[in-house]
This record gives sequence, structure tokens and C-alpha cells, in this order.
Amino acid sequence: MHTIKRSMLVVTLLAGWLGSQEREALGIEQKIDALLSRMTFAEKIGQMTQFSGTDARKEEQIRAGAIGSLLNVIGAAENNRLQKIAVEESRLKIPLIIGNDVIHGYRTIFPIPLAWSASWDTALIRQAARIAAKEARAVGIHWTFAPMVDIARDPRWGRIAEGAGEDPFLGAAIARSLVCGFQGSSLADPQALLACAKHYVAYGGAEGGRDYNTVDISERTLREIYLPPFEAAVRAGAGSLMSAFNEIGGIPASANPLTLRQILKGEWAFTGFVVSDWNSIGELLNHGLAANRIEAGRQSLIAGVDMDMEGLCFTPELEEFVKSGALPEKYVDDAVRRILRMKYRLGLFENPYTDPELSKNVLMQADHLAAARELARRSIVLLKNEKNILPLNLENLKTIAVIGPLADDNNAPLGTWRCQGRPEDVVTVLSGLRQRLAGKVKLLSAKGCDIQKAGQAHFQSAIEKVRQSDVVIMVLGEGAEMSGEAACRSELGLPGEQLNLLRRVAETGKPIVLVLMNGRPLVLSAVEPLATAIVETWHLGVQHGNAVADVLCGDYNPSGKLTVSFPRSVGQIPVYYNHKNTGRPANPGSKYNSKYLDVDNSPLYPFGYGNSYTRFEYSGLKIANTRLQTSEDLRVSVSVKNVGKQAGTEVVQLYVQDLVASVTRPVRELKGFQRVTLSAGQQETVTLRVPVTQLGCYDINLQYRVEPGEFRVYVGGDSRAELSATFNVVAAQ
Ligand code: BGC
Repeated sequence: MHTIKRSMLVVTLLAGWLGSQEREALGIEQKIDALLSRMTFAEKIGQMTQFSGTDARKEEQIRAGAIGSLLNVIGAAENNRLQKIAVEESRLKIPLIIGNDVIHGYRTIFPIPLAWSASWDTALIRQAARIAAKEARAVGIHWTFAPMVDIARDPRWGRIAEGAGEDPFLGAAIARSLVCGFQGSSLADPQALLACAKHYVAYGGAEGGRDYNTVDISERTLREIYLPPFEAAVRAGAGSLMSAFNEIGGIPASANPLTLRQILKGEWAFTGFVVSDWNSIGELLNHGLAANRIEAGRQSLIAGVDMDMEGLCFTPELEEFVKSGALPEKYVDDAVRRILRMKYRLGLFENPYTDPELSKNVLMQADHLAAARELARRSIVLLKNEKNILPLNLENLKTIAVIGPLADDNNAPLGTWRCQGRPEDVVTVLSGLRQRLAGKVKLLSAKGCDIQKAGQAHFQSAIEKVRQSDVVIMVLGEGAEMSGEAACRSELGLPGEQLNLLRRVAETGKPIVLVLMNGRPLVLSAVEPLATAIVETWHLGVQHGNAVADVLCGDYNPSGKLTVSFPRSVGQIPVYYNHKNTGRPANPGSKYNSKYLDVDNSPLYPFGYGNSYTRFEYSGLKIANTRLQTSEDLRVSVSVKNVGKQAGTEVVQLYVQDLVASVTRPVRELKGFQRVTLSAGQQETVTLRVPVTQLGCYDINLQYRVEPGEFRVYVGGDSRAELSATFNVVAAQ
């Protein structure tokens, strides 16, 4: 008691010297101290327990203080009802924290994350998260299981749809904007959601691209490729992280002291809490790490997981381990402290409820839809545009055939994790075009075939419509359920009969504009020669059809750039731009080097690639200071000119290669980018700055160091950029 009083005195004295934020933080810690001292062991474990949905038994547990968090509860009234049990009927009146997968929108569904990453527009992505937070918080959700910041180099893995692609630098930038977007400037803001960076960590490294599969990577790859977006999320203030399903080199991510206790809570000084993924603690039994759930709970807790999602592993029986000394109680107290800290910061003790009327004026507002349309059109990537067939020359077109199983599909555009998104809110490609072209061009439409099912019975009627038209828009690809969790594929071509349909349409000789809808890179080698233009539209959310009409009709000049490589064949996977050079880089003229007999090493479409209706030329690359100390910034300027006939936006990309280092380095790595909009004929000098501290690597002892020596910088419109110059980093004097 005396020690508590004395420490309170110190705290009060300290408070006099501190700023308001620090004072608030100290105040929260004091409240937690007071609360913790009143909690039984079972109540502590209750705070560390999360379940999905509700029933009479769970409600009794909330009343008993045995559940501190719920997920998947729908609607303001229901959230308030359950909150009331916690706040008014439990002994300590600690509010619930209610989570949900608000991934790319709550009711106003935005493009899937892989799609919106192709906009490279961190400000607009942040705004999308802001809107999602506003809608979700209005119905009483406090916490989103987003952003998903897993780097993915394998398009067979269905969850590639949920992240920002293959690059750690871009992934980190997008992670930051999503955390800031969801959480706003303060978690206490009634329009903020607590963010949860997931799935910690290396989940995307699954062998064979098969979900939940084994991951075996070096600590170097872990630190260089998979950790940076998580670190960025933590530095941006993410209040929680989710521990993943996979193992990493023999140690499951949900019982991994290196990644959780040492790196996250030690090196990064993370003050939020870690929730397990769904039963990922319970799955330690399948991993063969624990013989029973309680033992699994003990291992995870010691490793650094604070809350158990649907695992039945954090139970009051853990007290036996505390008594025997097998579980230091400090880990339990620390976990509870972290969870309570976020409940306080969210203002849940003062404002546990939401206003049930609020959501009526918040969901699907006009400005939300406008932002969804803007982000959707910026996410579209123009992969091919032969003979400048796009934008459609509406003056000369009388009839357009819109063909394919996805042309009028209002489900696929919602993509994976659509939260409360509804198919009836979706503008399909056909309806978007109809609206845009009404009274101007005649549209004929036909499905032609199903997305996945066999059967060519409807080919003929589709072909008849094609014959009557001047140009064909084919809308092909994957349904929503073909990407996302547990949706991996071993073949990445167009599913079902779609390629056959495309072939039949191509035989008519009509020009084909192929509009692709998919949640991952597809292998398009067989498809590419058949289409005059290819427009990658992913799953773009409720405004899908309007965004596609904007691009096809030239109301928006496409500016999206791929954030993941499109392989030429499945056998090339993994194929990514920031690979190593190897001791024997590919040399087509000779035999004994690193290549295939039957396919080039390069992807069909590389990272950073995307066309526009105009063209940009780069020249005059200059480095302001070619001898740099580690404390300085590399400053690179380049002149970018719009040499086409219309305004457009270019994503200027900067890549760096460390030419000689103490460990092998990638052939190039993205270190900067900027979107620039130029009118026809306009030229602008773009300057990009890279702190030299970001040019380091993990040396042979896994210490991060910037090594003196020569580097090469490349600037251009995709990862094959050729314009380059060199500079030197010099040792500190
Ligand atoms: C997924 C997570 C998700 C969680 C809760 C899990 O199956 O892996 O991404 O947040 O379910 O819905």
C-alpha cells in the first residue's frame, strides 16, 4: 500500500512537468494500477479473452467478467445491449472492446487492398480508412482487424488480395496511412477505430502459396521483407497487432518470443496489445507444440500474446502455472494492462455506448461514395492498349457488346471481406456503362459462360451479339470467393470456360477490350495476345462499374501501377522485382546460369508497371550530393514530361541498389515515389529525398548498418527504370 502511495506521489510531482498527452498517459497508467489491484486472476484472464458473436452462455460470462472482448456482433442496438451487460452488470464494470474485420470499408465498400495499393495514393487510402472508421464506429465497433500488412510474393496465396503487394517500402507507407486513417488523430475521437496490424508475421511466406502453410525464412528475410510494414504500423501508433497462424522456421508465430517479446515489445517498444488470430493459440496443438490448450495458452502468453481470439486457451486454470512458477504472473498483468490501456484510450470507460440513431446519417453518404469512386478509378491499371483503342472513340461507335460472366455481377466487386457491403449497393460494369452511354451507344450484353463451371452452351448467343457490335468489352476473371482467406489456387489462368470464350470471341476479329476482375495477379500469357486492350480492375467495391466506365470512356486517364508482379507462368513463382542477382545471373546466350529452358525470368508485367492514355518521358537525372554521410538525405531530381495529348498522372519511382556490401543485396529496392499530374506538354522537375539511414542492410551479425560504398539510383515509371546515376556513402569522419 505504501509503495503504491509513494509511486502516486512521484507520478503527481512528475505530472507538473509534463505536456498534456504525457499527463493523460500517466493518468491512464494510474487508473490501470488501481483497477488491476482490484482484479481477481479470473477477471484478469477475462480481459484477455475474446469470442465471436453471442449467446446466453457468453452473456453470462460477460456478466461474470470472463469475457473482455467480442467480435462479429452486428448493429448498434446489439453492441449497446452487450456493452450494457459489461458496464452495468459485471463487478468491475469494465467495458467490452468490440472488434470486426473492417478491411476495405464498412458499408461503403472501397477497392480491395491489393487494388487500392495500385493507386500509390497514400492520402486517398488514408481517407478511405477514415470513412470506414466513421461508419463502423457509428454502429458501436471500436476496433478493426486491419490493416493487413503481409508482404506477399506468391499470387497462388489467396490472401494476397488483402495486402499492399510485394514491396516492403510501399507496404510500410500504406500501413502508416491506414493506421492513421483508422485511428484518426486520437482514439478517443468518436469516429476512430483501433487498428490491428496483421498477421504478425511472415504469413505471406507460406510454402507453395497455400494458406496456413509452413514458413521457413531466414531472420534476414524476416527483418528486411516481412517486418518493415509492421514496424511502420507500430511507429504510426497502431494500438494492436494480430499474431499469425503460421510457424516461422519451427516456431509458430503465436508462440514466438523472438518476434513478439524481443522485436515487437522490446526493440520497437510497442505499448499496445497482441491478439491471436482465430484459435491460433489452440492450433499449437496441431503444430505439435503443446499437448493441451492450457499449455498452449501458457506458451503464447509467455511469448507475448495478450488476448486469445476464440482459442479457449487463456482460462483461469492458468493460475496453476502461476502457483507452480511455470508462468510468471507479470506476463498476465502486462497483458491486462495493455488491453485496458487501449480501452481507456478509446474512451470506452467514459463513453461505452454508441448513439443508435447515428448510423442513419453516416453510412453510404454521398462524400463516401465519391471517395470510393475516386479511389476505384485510381486503382485501375492499364496493362495493354494497342492501337490506342482506349479510351473508346465514342463518336465512331454505334454498338458495343459487353460479354462475360462478370459483366453484370454485383457480388464480385465487393471482393473478399466485404463487412456490411451489399450486392445491391454495387454498380456493375454493365450498369456503369449503361448509365454513361445512354442515348449515345447501343449496348448488347451476354454472360457467355459461368465464372468457374464448365459448359459452352451459351457461347453461341454471346458470339451473335459480338458479331453485331463494333467493339467487344469482355469482363472476365475471378469471383469474390476465389481470393482472400483459404482461397488459394495452383493454376492462375482465367478460371472455367472463360479462356475458351475469349478465344471464340477473338475468332470474330472484333477488337477486344478485356476488363479483368480478380483478387490476385493472374497468369495472362495465353490471354494477352487475344486482347487489344487489357484493363486490370481487381475488385473495386460499390463503385466498380462507374470507375470502369470513367476509364474506358476517357473521363479518367488511368494512373494505377502494379504493386505485385504478374508472372508469365505458375512455374516462375515466386517472381518479384527486388530479387538477388545470384552468382550466375540469367544470360540467354549460355547454359550454366540461373534461368529456365522454357520461359524468360522476367514477369509478364513487372512491379510498378501501368500505362496511361498519355506518355511520360524522363530526363536529366541529377543527384544533388554524390558523397553522402549517413546523417544526410540523398536528393535526386528528374525532369518528367507529359509528351502526349492529354493530362495524366504518373507515379515517379526511385529505386536504389547497394553495389558492393558485406551481404548480398537485391538488384534494386524501391526507396521513394511520388504521384505527379501533368497537363499535355507540361514538364516538371520532381525531387525525391531518401534519408541515407534507409539505405542500410542487416550485416553478417544481423546488425542494421549503412555500409559506406557505391550505390546506384534508378528513376522511372516502373521497376525496370533504366535512367540511373551513382553516388557514394562515406564513413562518418
Ligand atoms: C483471419 C483474420 C481475421 C479473423 C477474425 C481469421 O480467420 O485470419 O484475418 O481478422 O479471422 O475474423
